[in-house]
Formats: sequence, C-alpha cells, structure tokens
Amino acid sequence: MKHVLIAGALALGAQMGFAAGENAVIDPPAEGSVSREDGLSAWSRIYEVASHPRCSNCHVGADNIPMWSGPSYGKTRPHGMAINAGESRIGAETLLCATCHAVRESLNDVPHAAPQVAMDWQLAPVEAEWFGKSSVEICNQLRDPERNGGRGFLELAEHLDHDLILHWAWNPGGGREAAPYSLQEHVNDMLAWGVAGFPCEND
Ligand code: HEC
Ligand code: HEC
Repeated sequence: MKHVLIAGALALGAQMGFAAGENAVIDPPAEGSVSREDGLSAWSRIYEVASHPRCSNCHVGADNIPMWSGPSYGKTRPHGMAINAGESRIGAETLLCATCHAVRESLNDVPHAAPQVAMDWQLAPVEAEWFGKSSVEICNQLRDPERNGGRGFLELAEHLDHDLILHWAWNPGGGREAAPYSLQEHVNDMLAWGVAGFPCEND
C-alpha cells in the first residue's frame, strides 16, 4: 500500500514537471498506534498551517474574494484591484486569476509580484472556507467527507503532497512568510490525525 501511494505521488510530480525528490513520503503510522492526545496535538499543528495566510488567503468564503494578509501585506484586506473569483472560483466571470498568476518566468522572488505556480491559480472550494475560522470549525470541516472532497486521511495526505500550490506555500519567496513546519511534517501530522480517528477538541 505504502509503495503504491509513493509511486503514485512521484508519477504525478513528474507529470507536473516537479522534481521527484521534492515530494513528501506518505508513510502512515500503524493502525491504533496514535492516541487521541497525540492526534489532537497533530491537529493543533495542522490548524497552525491551515490558518496561516499562505493557506487561508485562498481558502475564503462565498463572497469569492481572495484575501491579502500576513506580514508582507501589512494590514489584512481583500485582494486589491477589485478582484472577484466568481462562482467559478477561478475568475471566469470577470478576469481569470491566471491573467496575473500564471507562470511566465519565475517572479516569485520579486516582492509584491503575483505569486505563480505550475497549475491554475484559483480559490479553494467554498466548503473549504478557512479564513478567520476557529480550530474547532476547521477541524470538523476537514474531517467531513461531504466538505473535504470525499477524502480519507490517505487521500488528504496525497492531495497535500502533489498539490503544487502547497509546494509554493512552504517556499513562497519575495519576502513572504512561509507556512509553518514543512510539507513533510504537515503530511505526517495529517496521517497521524487520521490514524487517531480525526479527533477534534469538541468531541
Ligand atoms: C492559490 C490558492 C490556494 C492556496 C494558497 C492554498 N490552497 Fe488549498 N485548495 C485550493 C484549491 C483550488 C483546492 C481544491 C483542489 C481540489 O479539490 O483538487 C484546495 C483544497 C485543499 C484541500 C482539500 C480539502 C478540502 O477541504 O477541499 C486541502 C487539505 C488544502 N487545500 C490545504 C491547503 C494548505 C495546507 C494550504 C497552505 C499550505 C493551502 N491549501 C493553500 C487552493 C489553495
Ligand atoms: C491584475 C493582476 C491579478 C489578478 C487578475 C489576480 N491577482 Fe491575485 N495577486 C496579484 C498580486 C500583484 C498579488 C501580490 C500582492 C502583494 O504581494 O502585495 C496577488 C496576491 C494574491 C493572493 C495572496 C497570496 C499570498 O501571498 O498569500 C491570493 C490568495 C490571490 N492573489 C488570489 C487571486 C485569485 C483567486 C485571483 C482570481 C480570482 C487573483 N488573485 C487574480 C495580482 C492579481
């Protein structure tokens, strides 16, 4: 099982032009080996990542407006230039996000240039709204298959591994603050939280 998952993630990484060596390893702890307490501490680290600006700026609600927040932005505010992603979440109704966020040459080291990744830049689905939400709210949301894209913990971890947006969030450049921990640590925490049975503080 473990090998199949790793091979899958590497194949996808290669397909997207991403060096295989940079992929995280998906190696879940044995069933029953993670206590509720350890699951909850893994969750608290997951929440630090999910609520970090490099993640939450895109994980916004039904107003379809991306956020500008975090130290490099100064004051927290809606995306400048009256950008609205529309219900398409990709700007199809007005101006495609890719107009500015598509990869041309890497501008990611230029402060205040639009971040660019090797896939279509777009908002996360409304069901994955995280901006301004509490740890308990996001915890219940992320373990709910109705709101997490029908994913179990292995699928959540795999998704984190191959999603190029996430590779950017830990290495954003341009004076932006990276998401905390590392992609590998975040994947490990996701697996530990899942093996512990997805505990949330309100259970
Ligand atoms: C550029 C916008 C963007 C950023 C930045 C971003 N995401 Fe996402 N996120 C998305 C999109 C789009 C999806 C839906 C993709 C899909 O379902 O395949 C998504 C889906 C997810 C999901 C799937 C679960 C769900 O509830 O749908 C997880 C987990 C996730 N993102 C984690 C993160 C983390 C962790 C970070 C920061 C390290 C992050 N994202 C940063 C756009 C973003
Ligand atoms: C006209 C160009 C332009 C368009 C179109 C555009 N953006 Fe941006 N975006 C920018 C620039 C420039 C920045 C960086 C500003 C800064 O760092 O001061 C940015 C930053 C962001 C950020 C913050 C990333 C971070 O640092 O955490 C998000 C999220 C974002 N854009 C989402 C979107 C989405 C979603 C769309 C489509 C609906 C979109 N943008 C369309 C120019 C654009």
